[in-house]
Amino acid sequence: MVTVAVAGGGTGIGLDIVRAILATKKHDLTVISRSNQTSLASEGVNIKVVDYSSVEQLADALRGIHTVISCIPAYGDNTTAAELALLEGAKRAGVLRFVPSEWNSACNDIVDLYAGKEIVWNAVQGSGLEYTRFINGLWMNVWGPGCIRDEEEAIGAYKGRPAFAIDLRAGTAIIPGDSSQKVVVTRTQDVGRFVAATLDLPIWEAESHIVGDRLSFAEVVGLANEVCGKQLRVTEIHVEELEELLGGNLEVGERFYYQLLLSAALGRMDFDHLTNPLFPDPRPMSTSEYLKKHWTLD
Ligand SMILES: NC(=O)c1ccc[n+]([C@@H]2O[C@H](COP(=O)([O-])OP(=O)(O)OC[C@H]3O[C@@H](n4cnc5c(N)ncnc54)[C@H](OP(=O)(O)O)[C@@H]3O)[C@@H](O)[C@H]2O)c1
Repeated sequence: MVTVAVAGGGTGIGLDIVRAILATKKHDLTVISRSNQTSLASEGVNIKVVDYSSVEQLADALRGIHTVISCIPAYGDNTTAAELALLEGAKRAGVLRFVPSEWNSACNDIVDLYAGKEIVWNAVQGSGLEYTRFINGLWMNVWGPGCIRDEEEAIGAYKGRPAFAIDLRAGTAIIPGDSSQKVVVTRTQDVGRFVAATLDLPIWEAESHIVGDRLSFAEVVGLANEVCGKQLRVTEIHVEELEELLGGNLEVGERFYYQLLLSAALGRMDFDHLTNPLFPDPRPMSTSEYLKKHWTLD
């Protein structure tokens, strides 16, 4: 049994991790939140309400906790300061293990909004705590919006956002870079299961790589046709075009979108699994299974 705290566990990837930890029925689970989280409290989760501007308050909330998992959005100065305070609070409270809010790929140097992740990662490495960062690629759930079966499950942690690059509802697909470039895609519910299983490991690797599936965007377009009978209208966008677009004046959201496409095109979302072999069962859902489950009625 591990005493574990998930910061930001009320929504997003944090909630999928909370659900997976609860399902193990093994661990003592706390959610660190800025509000009461009554629904999680009614499921037996301890709730600690905090103000991220107070390291003292964070340290109080984390006393007696072994592992802290940060799932707060890492999108700017505000959240970087909150995560650094969480890390400092964890140190003062005597926490032993810390997971920063990465949940993506090695593209922090390409994506402006991820600059804070690198600052936190450097601080984590110098903290003296044991740590791992979870690299899971693109969430497969980005292809859930508008699906025809079990949409809530299909979207998982990706709730409230538009489809990314491949929009099955609109029938369109963007293929960034060379059409053979592979990317890793992982369902957030599978990420949650791996993270929950990792709690039991006696030693953590500095990086935990989770691979749900590894395929090119062009292969996803092929599967949409083969599995769901959807003929998507494809637009290819090459690295040079992406770089040219990014050299122009874009608003923040557009810049974020094209920087993610550039990361995929440059192979930054393609990596080997390190963590999967440690937990072979059950294996994560493939893209083909995901499309069949959520985009067909078979
Ligand atoms: N790989 C992918 O495809 C992908 C896609 C999306 C996101 N991500 C990554 O996943 C991570 C989490 O994102 P998410 O979308 O799951 O998060 P989210 O749902 O937007 O937020 C999670 C929780 O963080 C807390 N929070 C929000 N703003 C905060 C602030 N300013 N200070 C402190 N806490 C705050 C909130 O909890 P309380 O209100 O309870 O405090 C919120 O419920 C990020 O690192 C993001 O980059 C990856």
